[in-house]
Amino acid sequence: MRHLLSTEDLGRGDAVRILDTAEEMSAVGDREVKKLPALRGRTVVNLFFEDSTRTRISFEAAAKRLSADVINFAAKGSSVSKGESLKDTAQTLEAMSADAVVIRHWASGAPQRLANSGWIDAAVVNAGDGTHEHPTQALLDAFTMRRHWSRLNRNASTGADLTGLRVAIAGDVLHSRVARSNVWLLRTLGASVTLVAPPTLLPVGVEHWPCEVSYDLDSTLAKGVDAMMMLRVQAERMNASFFPSAREYARRWGFDDRRLASLDSLGLKDTIIMHPGPMNRGLEISSAAADSPRSTVLAQVRNGVSVRMAALYLLLSGDTREERNELTKVSSS
Ligand code: NCD
Repeated sequence: MRHLLSTEDLGRGDAVRILDTAEEMSAVGDREVKKLPALRGRTVVNLFFEDSTRTRISFEAAAKRLSADVINFAAKGSSVSKGESLKDTAQTLEAMSADAVVIRHWASGAPQRLANSGWIDAAVVNAGDGTHEHPTQALLDAFTMRRHWSRLNRNASTGADLTGLRVAIAGDVLHSRVARSNVWLLRTLGASVTLVAPPTLLPVGVEHWPCEVSYDLDSTLAKGVDAMMMLRVQAERMNASFFPSAREYARRWGFDDRRLASLDSLGLKDTIIMHPGPMNRGLEISSAAADSPRSTVLAQVRNGVSVRMAALYLLLSGDTREERNELTKVSSS
């Protein structure tokens, strides 16, 4: 694996390897000294062109736990706001010898552009590009589901995939890179996925995705769901009205107190409730649901650090930058 750009082209072998490595990394987080020397001397740059709290902090914690040097670069307050192009920014990072660039960008495709441009030699990790993909979020979600699934099946948690798990993803699918990355990865890992949304918040072509589509949350729940993932209503990406009112949205599409209570009567005693954050409490998820024992919101954040440690470790622990350059010289001479 040279870069981590999307889950659509991530094979099962690599996906399971990341999850298994994350399982080993999570043991480091439980120790008093939460640090491994694995990436000592390597430089990881967090290049964030869009606001982020947990993803940026999570990548920073992950890199630091592996003893890498971390440079945080936020586009606000940098020369990007003076109109500097992605190319110039990338070349500046290259001149600083970055080994990995973790990029979040408002433009779908920006990480691919960076990885394929030849502007930099670093490994590129997509930390969310526009409405396209957010692979490490899907991996941390899958990691969280796998732990839950293995507990239910009483299996060992490593090496296994998600075959048989029923996942529903509800809400603003149209604007969600989290939904896209999850659909691809969950398909690869063998889970079955149902997207639930109002027709206005489903993307064109969704019928060709490897999942079911429903407009009705209650009937989806009634069929049985092991993991219920709620998506944030992304008001900042909405330039029109996609639903009648917040109240109506919460009633029809939100995971509210009534639906939380219905899980018991539906016999879904082990169903977990997930959300990538940040949450709009009272809109797509009620406070009671977000704070209930079924909620994995904080476990997802915790698992995010382990998964990002695994990704950085697998991308960077091989050859050093100098060794790679030597190899390229040899192979091109
Ligand atoms: C998600 C994102 O930025 O795509 N959040 C995250 O990474 N934790 C989802 C969202 O913003 O709704």
